[in-house]
Amino acid sequence: MQFRLIITSAAALLLAACQSGDAPAPKAAAPMIAPILSGADAVDIHSYAKPLDARVTHVALDLAVDFAAKRVAGTATLDLQAKPGVKSITLDDKGLEIAAITTADGNPLPYTVGAVDPILGAPLTVEMGDAKQIVIRYTSAPDAGALQWLTPEQTAGKKSPYLLSQGQAIENRSWIPTQDSPGVRQTWEAKITVPAALTAVMSAPKAGEPVTKSDTRTFSYKMDKPVAPYLIAIAVGDLAFRELGPRTGVWTEPAMLDKAAAELADTEKMVAAAERLFGPYQWGRYDMLVLPPSFPFGGMENPTLTFLTPTFIAGDKSLTSLIAHELAHSWSGNLATNATWADFWLNEGMTTYATTRIVEAVYGPKVAAQQVALGHDAMNAAITDNGGAAGPDTRLHIDLKGRSPDDGLTDIAYEKGAAFLRTIEIAVGRERFDAWLKGWFSGHMFEPVTTAIFLADIREHLIKNDAALETKLALDTWVNDPGIPASIAPADAQAFAEVDSAVTAFKTGALPSTPVWQRWTTDEKLRFLTKLDKKQPSARLAALDQAYGLANAGNNEVRFAFLTLAVAARHDPAVPALEQFLLVQGRRKFVRPLITALAADAEWGRPIAKRVYAKARPLYHPVTTRDLDKLGLIAAPSQKALTAK
Ligand code: BES
Ligand code: ZN
Repeated sequence: MQFRLIITSAAALLLAACQSGDAPAPKAAAPMIAPILSGADAVDIHSYAKPLDARVTHVALDLAVDFAAKRVAGTATLDLQAKPGVKSITLDDKGLEIAAITTADGNPLPYTVGAVDPILGAPLTVEMGDAKQIVIRYTSAPDAGALQWLTPEQTAGKKSPYLLSQGQAIENRSWIPTQDSPGVRQTWEAKITVPAALTAVMSAPKAGEPVTKSDTRTFSYKMDKPVAPYLIAIAVGDLAFRELGPRTGVWTEPAMLDKAAAELADTEKMVAAAERLFGPYQWGRYDMLVLPPSFPFGGMENPTLTFLTPTFIAGDKSLTSLIAHELAHSWSGNLATNATWADFWLNEGMTTYATTRIVEAVYGPKVAAQQVALGHDAMNAAITDNGGAAGPDTRLHIDLKGRSPDDGLTDIAYEKGAAFLRTIEIAVGRERFDAWLKGWFSGHMFEPVTTAIFLADIREHLIKNDAALETKLALDTWVNDPGIPASIAPADAQAFAEVDSAVTAFKTGALPSTPVWQRWTTDEKLRFLTKLDKKQPSARLAALDQAYGLANAGNNEVRFAFLTLAVAARHDPAVPALEQFLLVQGRRKFVRPLITALAADAEWGRPIAKRVYAKARPLYHPVTTRDLDKLGLIAAPSQKALTAK
């Protein structure tokens, strides 16, 4: 406590120094809270906060998890800093039920909840006067967008309920009343009380042993490094842990532990490779949580505890570039963080680039070159899906006015972003680029960053007034213009030479032979399936399925690629496998395109979509159902949380 106050006042001084235009204090070893960036491009349109006036620096949660009511309830104690004369602070709130807001010593403070926006939620303005700390007593709503409450039947063990959260991009305001903006970094701590048989894990180091009282246990976590609030995460369930290496390990349900640990065996090697590439790992441990199959994403880079879908478990480690990706966010995203969602490409494009570098170090250049080529395919598909080379959403620095940050979650951010960095790397040479990259991470540790900061940094540390290089890199075109600049470094055209000739042969009737198919890596199989013409005659898909068992493939990416073709071809024999796939997992990347494609095919697909979605919806996380509900497949679900209050 004492220590925290010291840090807070040091941060206040730093803030004051920056705002008065003095030189900022030199960086201390212990990270201080980065000041709020000023300037139009750093204004977060997805938050109601006005952090240049008053900001949150620390969040202390004390919450009980109520599975029966599907709520978390308790208090959030916020440490605040305000500009002189500012007497109120604005927080983000989505459906929170607030009982009271007081000072630290219990004096009630006036507050108002403004009009509710369906995307952003509502501003919560607290008149804190001169108080430096406020205590909010609240409960989350049963349909909080960040939280998913699973019944025992929806877990691997079938015995205990499960709670999981997903904060990115703007979901955490549905269970944590704070300034939910990535430019407002906050340290945090939490005490979480759960039924005694269950374990609560969070995206922070453990702060002491759990305390058991008759039928409850209270777990404590503390993150003393300032993080973007979307990185606060929780899961509660019947969880077990296994060490993988000196600073890596895996949490999951006991029934999943062996399989998960085997699949994650290369993690420690990846951390070592990442440190060589990007500089020291700053977060202490790198643990992973393998979640139940309803987890809506492949992975989420929650600090110290990456959240993972179980669908990456293929039995042969062939989908573990997912781990390299989430691990890479420990630098790109979690150290240097997009200040607003307009600069999401800085998180994901840089991470996608960094992923390939880790994959290359651990699995070799051929695997990496193939993943780059698959990335280029995905980038080109994203250009098509987003209106072609002139489509405004094909820009890296994207305009999300009036829209959800989710609209920016495309392979433009991931793959055009990665292609941009790879193009720079190839232009300046790897040695120079790697030195710059390390400098970028160490120079922006625990800081929000914008595209403008990125460009200035590249110019200062990499281009250094080299006019020819400036012209060659066309930095402004890359970040501001739609489409793909002509200067893009091409993917290796030979990376999939054998597969690509098999695709050509398939057009004239030949299937790859069984030994060839079996020899192919997962990436090779994916290249094959995604390069085939989208509308195959059903009989050809039947031949493929018969030869290689694709509709029920154990590798979920391969299975998804085949089922995508099956839907486009109205391939009836695959429907049972398709339905099963949509009912056993809820990864949005898999279920959203399949159900959307089915729903768009009025005659053949829509009845299937209706039938499956009615059954599958309870398995899916709110961030998945929110989109799929818009397809109008089942009677409109309740809008209660948005219209109440
Ligand atoms: N941070 C993202 C997931 C995310 C982004 C969630 C935006 C919500 C809003 C994560 O790192 C990610 O990119 N996951 C990918 C992994 C893949 C690219 C290897 C996914 O879930 O598919
Ligand atoms: Zn990512």
